[in-house]
Amino acid sequence: MQDVAIRTDVAIAIDGPLIAAVGAFNDIERDFEDAERVDCGGRIITPGLVDSHTHAVFGRPRYDEQELRAAGAGYMEIAEKGGGIHSSVRDLRERGEEDLLQLARERIQRIACYGATTVEIKSGYGLSLDDELKTLRVIARLQDECSIRIVPTWLGGHEIPREYRERSGGRSEYIEQLIQEQLPAVIAERLATFADVFCEPGVFTLDETRTILEAARASGLKLKIHADELEPCGGAELAVALGATSADHLAAISSAGIRELAASNTVATLLPGTMFFLGRPRHAPARELIAAGAIVALATDFNPGTSPTPNLPLIMTIGVSQLHMSVAESLLATTVNGAAAVGLADSVGQIAPGFSADIALWNCEDIREIPYWYGDARCAASWCRGEPVKVAL
Ligand code: NIG
Ligand code: FE
Repeated sequence: MQDVAIRTDVAIAIDGPLIAAVGAFNDIERDFEDAERVDCGGRIITPGLVDSHTHAVFGRPRYDEQELRAAGAGYMEIAEKGGGIHSSVRDLRERGEEDLLQLARERIQRIACYGATTVEIKSGYGLSLDDELKTLRVIARLQDECSIRIVPTWLGGHEIPREYRERSGGRSEYIEQLIQEQLPAVIAERLATFADVFCEPGVFTLDETRTILEAARASGLKLKIHADELEPCGGAELAVALGATSADHLAAISSAGIRELAASNTVATLLPGTMFFLGRPRHAPARELIAAGAIVALATDFNPGTSPTPNLPLIMTIGVSQLHMSVAESLLATTVNGAAAVGLADSVGQIAPGFSADIALWNCEDIREIPYWYGDARCAASWCRGEPVKVAL
């Protein structure tokens, strides 16, 4: 993760949706003399960033909880009192598809204006057959209408809904509903590439997570896990055992979890914006994971409860300043490794011939400025599949 292969005085030839060639400016000028030219004016370009973990379809923001936490309340404590994910679920269930689409569209625009050209989006605030399908249909419509690439994930296993939690036997009934009703419907409508579960003490146990994800895998979905976010519980080890594409969060990962992830192809997706926003002292052990040889990605976790930021370069800043990653590592974590975290390592996340022409242009002269000007909007323009990304600031 040390070598980002920075090149100067190069031109990139784009043919349709793909990168055709990368080379010395004069060579590209000669070989593609009829091409339309875009002058980047001596500024930095990178692969379009990949935000490989978001919950971007939601209704009401939850700024009330931020103040409660500042006054000492814990994340799980707020959830147990009906706030947290439950409050977003109540809200989303009351909204129609058009309303949610309009809100999500604006939020995706915000994500795109910070340089991401590929965004994974999870369901998970519906937690009923109809409301999960409604959310995934919104994501499908975003896929059709957006100029950036959207990767859909079914997260029916985000929480046990309150109506099931409160009655005996409810947990297993909900898991039954996930597997017997939600999953087949998601597959029949081809609404998701990935399945994900929030595996955490107080939410889904390790065994429940395994049951749900084994069913999803048997139905052809690739897997992700919200693993070891707040308390260690073996989530990373389970992700490896199931052959998951990524294990996400990992702020409370165990040493065994680090070893197993490092020996696997499962991407360790770190979401340090979440720990920052929740005011929790412990970040994921990025240095240990990288030293052990794990594939490390960084993402926003954009969601109304724990990380309401659409700004992936800000997450790179936290990666460098708090997780002690190098700038090169933070860039690879949001491009090459982000692409691996959504199963697209062969076609996305690199400026190389044959890769998707996904490019971000920055108002920066040095790559180190991207995490340096923290919180700033430095992305000047971007292209996805060779087409300019339309963003309204
Ligand atoms: O990734 N951890 C679970 N899900 C989200 C938070 C969801 C919420 O609080 O609304 C996360 O942090
Ligand atoms: Fe998340």
